[in-house]
Amino acid sequence: MRELINAARIAERVRGLGAEIERDYAGSPDLVLIGMLRGSVCFLPDLMRCVALPMRVGFLGIHRYDGTVGGDLRLSADETDNIAGADVLIVEDIVEHGTTLQAALDLLRDRLPRSIAVAALLSKPGALKHPLPELRYVGFEVGSEFVVGYGLDFDQRYRNLPYIAALEPGDAAGS
Ligand code: IMP
Ligand code: MG
Repeated sequence: MRELINAARIAERVRGLGAEIERDYAGSPDLVLIGMLRGSVCFLPDLMRCVALPMRVGFLGIHRYDGTVGGDLRLSADETDNIAGADVLIVEDIVEHGTTLQAALDLLRDRLPRSIAVAALLSKPGALKHPLPELRYVGFEVGSEFVVGYGLDFDQRYRNLPYIAALEPGDAAGS
């Protein structure tokens, strides 16, 4: 495990993103943060406490079917209220190809929000399969390596690390 971003840097950046979001949505009559399960389990609660505006919070789970290669996406959880006319901000752990977020955007846009944008803690630049103009807030850019911690998992492990680390071969083997 190689630490990439320590807890203090994460906290500072999340505060910065919160300040930007607070400024951008200051006039919003109905702000709704929608956390993507399960990776936003650390980012969403930290971020929402850095935005001093009235808001609602919901959750959406979108997963790839196990065993398929880059294939079908499955809606595993939809804990959202009516978002018609609302300003929706999707909160995601990491954007790689953008496929998961595109599915979330398509799904939520059908419900006629007034606006929709994305805040991702991490992005892997160059990995996007198509442009994602809704990606308005990004915490850090990381390389192509697989990262874990602060909500991000490998095989459902490591989400509770307070920092972000690159997984190394010995870690993947569980040692
Ligand atoms: P995308 O659909 O390719 O953008 O994939 C995004 C999803 O894949 C994220 O929500 C994560 O769950 C997962 N993911 C992509 N890269 C990583 C990584 O480096 N570590 C942990 N999860 C990742
Ligand atoms: Mg995810």
